[in-house]
Amino acid sequence: MSSDLAALGVTPTPLALLLLGRDRDLASERGVECPGDLPVASDPDLVARAQRARAALGDRAFVLGHHYQRDEVIGFADVTGDSFKLAQQAAARPEAEFVVFCGVHFMAESADILTAAHQQVVLPDLAAGCSMADMAALRQVEDAWSALEAAGLAGGTVPVAYMNSSAAIKSFTGRNGGTICTSSNADRSLRWAFERGERVLFLPDQHLGRNTAVLQLGIGLDECVVWDPHKPHGGLTVEQLRDAKMVLWRGHCSVHGRFSADNVRDVRERVPGVNVLVHPECRHEVVTAADSVGSTEHIIRTLEAAPAGSSWAVGTELNLVSRLAQQHPDKQIVFLDKTVCYCSTMNRIDLPHLVWALESLVEGRVPNRIVVDDDTAHWARVALERMLALPGDGTTVPAQR
Ligand code: 13P
Ligand code: SF4
Repeated sequence: MSSDLAALGVTPTPLALLLLGRDRDLASERGVECPGDLPVASDPDLVARAQRARAALGDRAFVLGHHYQRDEVIGFADVTGDSFKLAQQAAARPEAEFVVFCGVHFMAESADILTAAHQQVVLPDLAAGCSMADMAALRQVEDAWSALEAAGLAGGTVPVAYMNSSAAIKSFTGRNGGTICTSSNADRSLRWAFERGERVLFLPDQHLGRNTAVLQLGIGLDECVVWDPHKPHGGLTVEQLRDAKMVLWRGHCSVHGRFSADNVRDVRERVPGVNVLVHPECRHEVVTAADSVGSTEHIIRTLEAAPAGSSWAVGTELNLVSRLAQQHPDKQIVFLDKTVCYCSTMNRIDLPHLVWALESLVEGRVPNRIVVDDDTAHWARVALERMLALPGDGTTVPAQR
């Protein structure tokens, strides 16, 4: 620790980011290197190879694709969706031996937890992690819970973990009476939690927690505090914890966290009459400046229903925004930021990795299998099933300005 940091009482987290997915760090959501020989990206036969391998596997494989995946990958998905829909769909084909998850590591872990024991989940590149999920390590969350226990507050606190968290964090949540949420159902998960306690520990995305609590449950901004795992006692006093309704973990999405209120102002000047549509992982000042906020499924449905000739600036991952712009040439759809903003870990799943994974399965090898140990899986499943049992159709009525 540098002496400056030590003087501030700040303990650095062990560095979770592994350059280009090299090396091995099982505590990290970023995963490990991809073994075996990858086809070269310039191979002109890649699409045909993927088609041949997919056809050879037939019903033995079920391919899931998150909306942020590249075009060349999403074209091979049997089902596309946001993280809620993909969690629901994971168990939808019990006859499939292999679930090939084109998304990131925490999604593949959830699929392993929700599928039957004979089904094997494959992540085509183990380096497809999530920087947000990495921001909450189990040891840090257990320290926060111990602080709440020591303050006599844990009994009235219900943990709610965003889907974008490791299986270990989901398991902690299940063990301690909490539930999981996605950006499609965060309001219903929070209402469920407030029926069981007076305070929520929300992990790991402070923005989704704050935006949902304030805009959909009417909780005051001053009733939300941020637990910083790098500061002693989270940087909070016992009184601040006791008075809070939402204890927000200090985590964020490195993609959605880039959008700013200036981006919203700029696009309103550049594009007359533009509607600003953003994901709830964006910062509060962005969401409150926007016209509509919701999950990726909400963003897709809103643009499908929009009248021809309307203009939209969309604040979410760029693969999805570019695809939507191509699918709706009758509408003007622009990216909210002026600079390029892909999710670099979602982009790790490319055609060479998909071809390599599918061909390995055809040849009888199961590459990059994601397995969650039984104890972790048990409590994570408890938390996930609480979420899947929430009333409603899996979609949130989004906040509209
Ligand atoms: P949704 O799929 O729930 O909209 O979440 C977006 C995201 O960041 C996934 O990693
Ligand atoms: Fe994680 Fe953000 Fe990428 Fe989603 S978009 S996988 S939350 S870094």
